[in-house]
Amino acid sequence: MRRIRTFLVFASFGQFGTPPASASAPTPEAFVSYSIEFSSFPDFAGNNSSPNKFSNNLLSNLGKLTGTKPHIRVGGNTQDYALYNASLETAINGTYNLKRSADYPTTIFIGPSYFESYSTWPDTKFTHGFNLGLEGNNSAGWETLLDTVPLACKALSNGRLLMWEYGNEPDLYSTSSQGPVRLPSWHESEYVAQWLNGTRAIKAQLQKYCPDMVSNDTYGYMAPSFAGTNNHLKPLLTWQEGLDQDRNIKLISSHNYIGGATQPGVTLQGTLMNHTSTVHSISSQINESNYLAYTGIPFILGETNSLYNEGAPSLSNSFGAALWGLDFNLWCASVGIRRVHMHQGTDYRYASWQPILTSKTTIGTKPPYYGNIAVAAMLGKLTAGAVRIANLPLESEFEAAYAAYVDEKLARIAVINMRAYNYTVNGTSSVLNPVKRPSQEYSFEVPEGSEVEVKRLYANGSDAISGITWDGWSYNWELDHGKPIKLHNVTVGECLRAQGGMLNLTVEDSTAVILNF
Ligand SMILES: *[C@@H]1O[C@H](CO)[C@@H](O)[C@H](O)[C@H]1NC(C)=O
Ligand SMILES: *[C@@H]1O[C@H](CO)[C@@H](O)[C@H](O)[C@H]1NC(C)=O
Ligand SMILES: *[C@@H]1O[C@H](CO)[C@@H](O)[C@H](O)[C@H]1NC(C)=O
Ligand SMILES: *[C@@H]1O[C@H](CO)[C@@H](O)[C@H](O)[C@H]1NC(C)=O
Ligand SMILES: *[C@@H]1O[C@H](CO)[C@@H](O)[C@H](O)[C@H]1NC(C)=O
Ligand SMILES: *[C@@H]1O[C@H](CO)[C@@H](O)[C@H](O)[C@H]1NC(C)=O
Ligand SMILES: *[C@@H]1O[C@H](CO)[C@@H](O)[C@H](O)[C@H]1NC(C)=O
Ligand SMILES: *[C@@H]1O[C@H](CO)[C@@H](O)[C@H](O)[C@H]1NC(C)=O
Ligand SMILES: *[C@@H]1O[C@H](CO)[C@@H](O)[C@H](O)[C@H]1NC(C)=O
Ligand SMILES: *[C@@H]1O[C@H](CO)[C@@H](O)[C@H](O)[C@H]1NC(C)=O
Ligand SMILES: *[C@@H]1O[C@H](CO)[C@@H](O)[C@H](O)[C@H]1NC(C)=O
Ligand SMILES: *[C@@H]1O[C@H](CO)[C@@H](O)[C@H](O)[C@H]1NC(C)=O
Repeated sequence: MRRIRTFLVFASFGQFGTPPASASAPTPEAFVSYSIEFSSFPDFAGNNSSPNKFSNNLLSNLGKLTGTKPHIRVGGNTQDYALYNASLETAINGTYNLKRSADYPTTIFIGPSYFESYSTWPDTKFTHGFNLGLEGNNSAGWETLLDTVPLACKALSNGRLLMWEYGNEPDLYSTSSQGPVRLPSWHESEYVAQWLNGTRAIKAQLQKYCPDMVSNDTYGYMAPSFAGTNNHLKPLLTWQEGLDQDRNIKLISSHNYIGGATQPGVTLQGTLMNHTSTVHSISSQINESNYLAYTGIPFILGETNSLYNEGAPSLSNSFGAALWGLDFNLWCASVGIRRVHMHQGTDYRYASWQPILTSKTTIGTKPPYYGNIAVAAMLGKLTAGAVRIANLPLESEFEAAYAAYVDEKLARIAVINMRAYNYTVNGTSSVLNPVKRPSQEYSFEVPEGSEVEVKRLYANGSDAISGITWDGWSYNWELDHGKPIKLHNVTVGECLRAQGGMLNLTVEDSTAVILNF
């Protein structure tokens, strides 16, 4: 089955290969970044005697594509549960309370060796998330702040510090379903007062223990790290209340999830493999960033992923979620979000990789990672040229296309065909209903003689959780611990040459393609 759709990239943009007015400003380095759950960081990074090399290999793969290894934000809900215990011999002592969450510990002590995890990945920059949840609530919380600043700043010296964060999703402190840490009367001015008090205490500790880390170049925060734009605290109001009166906020960080893991009606096709759903989800962030544009501070997603509550099995860990991640990240890049930190934690369904073997999850590279790789391949070396991303509007909500311009010239086009092809139900493995995989055809009007290299993000279907490849590369743990290995059962090295001024491209359902000009 072939469905034919033509879109005239060049014709609609006038001059040959130049960016449309809608293209983003040049994308900053490390656009493809991660957020790692505070309590899972030792699992992801390891420690001095046992560094997690698998994670480092996966980060290096991305670094080779974009020119910079992903920035790592260490934070999340558990950052606001962590208390410091100087006598703890392990990095972390986390206790689960299944009534609060089955996915992460909610009673947490960290010891001095927690901070070793900051030294296992070379050439990587981090944000460390300090606890505001308990700091405004009990004296051990305040003591933790004073005690951990010296440990964190020493661990993040030598150029490892990107910036600090103080509090995760404080807009949910009074309503959190994992247990409120503020009274129902919690409001913006109280938050701002506590944030200023705590960040001033952090600076005073830095002055004392890491005096080279208080200059404008080295000292700053991502904030306010709200879960959304319309919860109990509103981002704009916190600004109006003077959140940035010390002029130390370097990034406006917002969090986003497309939907919830157990939200009724959530499906792969309807919720994730649906461009309209992504556009709709991110529209509140675009609105907020427009309101805050007067600050001149770049706006990022400091924590995001497919479905909150750590993802849904067979959705968030499927190849369909990788295609969603590609569309989501490129959409964010095209609308001016300056960086996206994909969130993950040990045993999380939406994780890009599982860093260690646990009783719940096998170690391994998961489908979403392949989506991250494709984003990196589309952006290319952000350190070598000005890379601008434009969305190319298509008719169906089950497809999306983007153009990447390098130094004002068309360099790559991505086409994401998100029509679900459920391999288990419809694939050749199905005894009941095997269907030949449908495809979509796209035509591009290009100068005669143009030749492009074709690279595909591929798996057997949207429901696949293994056998994923990018341009024939596998990054799976079991092959070479995350280093790229070329597989020989996938077609690679395709080239297309324009005929009659047209390039015709076939994209199978539930796959994505990047054309390299
Ligand atoms: C701190 O760690 C020590 C050594 O493991 C332990 O004996 C003590 O109970 C811990 N304190 C708390 C409050 O967990
Ligand atoms: C370092 O990690 C290894 C492996 O997880 C662990 O056995 C060891 O206790 C850790 N060391 C410290 C100081 O936490
Ligand atoms: C770990 O934390 C739990 C819960 O607070 C506590 O009962 C236990 O003693 C702690 N273990 C250590 C080694 O500190
Ligand atoms: C402190 O946190 C507890 C939950 O741990 C909550 O019940 C209480 O309301 C909080 N107190 C204040 C003053 O925010
Ligand atoms: C900052 O917060 C701490 C802990 O709640 C408190 O002890 C201290 O008095 C506060 N300082 C100011 C200036 O409010
Ligand atoms: C540091 O940054 C602040 C706010 O942007 C500015 O007012 C101040 O002059 C800067 N200080 C130096 C030494 O550059
Ligand atoms: C795709 O998402 C939009 C916006 O959320 C929604 O209105 C539409 O129904 C979704 N499509 C399908 C097939 O579920
Ligand atoms: C856009 O943001 C402003 C400022 O926070 C808010 O007042 C407004 O309701 C938002 N509009 C939409 C459509 O979300
Ligand atoms: C796939 O199989 C399902 C269930 O048998 C069927 O409803 C659907 O139409 C099939 N899809 C295609 C593309 O044939
Ligand atoms: C594939 O189809 C089966 C049977 O309808 C369904 O249980 C499963 O959730 C589908 N998988 C995906 C990822 O849509
Ligand atoms: C290629 O082989 C790998 C195993 O080596 C398998 O997982 C994958 O599904 C295969 N890909 C295709 C397209 O057959
Ligand atoms: C490409 O597609 C266009 C539009 O569908 C068609 O007219 C043209 O013949 C095709 N060219 C080639 C070389 O297949």
